[in-house]
Amino acid sequence: MPEYSISPSGEKFRIPAEKEYAVEMRRLGKLVKAARGEGKEIAVVMGVGFVGAVMAAVVADSTDKRGRPTKFVIGCQRPSTRSYWKIPLLNRGLAPVRSEDPEVDPMIARCVLEKKTLTATFDSDALGYADIVIVDVQCDYTKVDLGNMRTGQTEMTALEQTMRTIGQRIPPKCLVLIETTVAPGTTEFVAWPILKKAFAARGLKSAPLLAHSFERVMPGRDYVSSIRDFWRVCSGCNAEARRRVVKFLKSVLNTADYPLTVMDRPIESETTKIVENSYRATTLAFLNEWSLFAERNGVDLVKVVNAIKVRPTHSNIIFPGPSIGGYCLPKDGGLGYWAYKHILGFDDGDEVFKMSTRAIDINDTRGLHVATLTRDCLRNMGRHIAGADVLICGASYRKDVGDTRYSGSELVVRRLTEMGAEMRVHDPYVEHWYELEKQDVYPAPGHSWSRFFHNQDGLSDVSVQKDLAKAIKGAEAVILAVPHEHYIALDPDRVVKMAGGPLGVIDCFGILEDDQIRRYFELGCEVKALGRGHIQRIKEEVRKKARK
Ligand SMILES: NC(=O)c1ccc[n+]([C@@H]2O[C@H](COP(=O)([O-])OP(=O)(O)OC[C@H]3O[C@@H](n4cnc5c(N)ncnc54)[C@H](O)[C@@H]3O)[C@@H](O)[C@H]2O)c1
Repeated sequence: MPEYSISPSGEKFRIPAEKEYAVEMRRLGKLVKAARGEGKEIAVVMGVGFVGAVMAAVVADSTDKRGRPTKFVIGCQRPSTRSYWKIPLLNRGLAPVRSEDPEVDPMIARCVLEKKTLTATFDSDALGYADIVIVDVQCDYTKVDLGNMRTGQTEMTALEQTMRTIGQRIPPKCLVLIETTVAPGTTEFVAWPILKKAFAARGLKSAPLLAHSFERVMPGRDYVSSIRDFWRVCSGCNAEARRRVVKFLKSVLNTADYPLTVMDRPIESETTKIVENSYRATTLAFLNEWSLFAERNGVDLVKVVNAIKVRPTHSNIIFPGPSIGGYCLPKDGGLGYWAYKHILGFDDGDEVFKMSTRAIDINDTRGLHVATLTRDCLRNMGRHIAGADVLICGASYRKDVGDTRYSGSELVVRRLTEMGAEMRVHDPYVEHWYELEKQDVYPAPGHSWSRFFHNQDGLSDVSVQKDLAKAIKGAEAVILAVPHEHYIALDPDRVVKMAGGPLGVIDCFGILEDDQIRRYFELGCEVKALGRGHIQRIKEEVRKKARK
């Protein structure tokens, strides 16, 4: 029975049969021969997901000083039912990832169809052609309990398997560059030994050339630029690997304007990534306690944060939304905590790691408070959350992007559903909210956050709406969960008119101006917000005025 892989748009692709591998290698062989004839290096990118697909295109699009392409890139992806579809899509010149960056689609189309410097394959024997291999497979950190990251586990299998496959196939002088965010120590103490063992089994005497340089890519309108025009940190397992990785990165990235930082050892560049993301996670988590303080003491945390930002030394303080979200910040500190014990062999992790771990736990559960605010908002209007129609505006984790991975909105929806609310979703950037629609299998079977809540079955029927007027009609509460540009200047009169009457309004991200809050109260609405205690004062002012 043939197996199929289905793309997000529903197109079915048959998984290649055994006999198709020889045909595929002949196709690649011809392309590689032609590329070598033109003096190009061959780069194989393992994993064409969010990062790998765009990194592959950045490398394929790079040129020498005279504007000539110097690399031929082969994106390599496992032919699994979950991911195989990315290969035929890429080979049509279509991006296998959705991005708000207008540069992504044309760049992939240009490299595949015009410059012919990029192709994709399911056959890992392509590694035999590589001068450089770039590893962009995932390395997840799976949490077992909600709000306790210490019981989690690093999922190393994909990375370890990839390293084995690479070690069995690459030419001895090929450089392997790990870009995946890994638990510190992975490059030298997990990946390098795997490569060495594979080389020894092949009778190769030379040491494998292994380097590390993490991605700082940011979803959004500057996706490509955040790969190409951004500062990189790199390192190699030995001097030759370090020299080669510096040479490679200089040839594909804009290192003239964004100089490279070269570290002595991979554990240092690995740690850089984990510390920079833990730093961000910690500064956000720390504001959670001040957010609660503000709510209970008539203080608007938005104004506090803005007042602090004026100091250049504190200018990157940011208001914490319903959760931190995104693929990286909720997990990266976990990779560090886990590595300390499981790779580096220390037993006192719980004494050493107090802040990074607690920060992740706080960020992972902050969204639950939005559900209590929504409940209280409706209660103040004499309504109940059970059975109430509630619209959440924004499913993604960040403003003006369609990336829903680990978004705070998911936590809010799940908790409110557990409490009996009928949830509706609006997001201008999100086509499908797979975390809900495919919760049985996404992000992987048994990994959905649905496992932490009751009464979640109906959420697979929730669809993301694009028409705000339709979505809000008849709603008893609206949660402004993400500061997408569409929600910033929403006129309260219009919102109430579209809803068909006064409703509860819950602001999670400092979206509402004081005038808007005031107007909602004048229209008979109730308003609650994360970190905005001054709302009570506005409410009293409006009531006092109404009594006069
Ligand atoms: N997405 C981001 O915003 C972001 C930002 C910075 C860093 N990173 C890091 O980049 C890495 C990759 O993240 P992503 O978002 O691209 O993940 P992803 O899940 O979108 O992509 C990983 C890809 O690797 C493939 N893969 C897994 N095992 C494979 C194998 N053995 N051979 C070939 N392909 C294989 C998967 O099928 C998938 O397509 C992670 O370490 C992540 O932490 C991601």
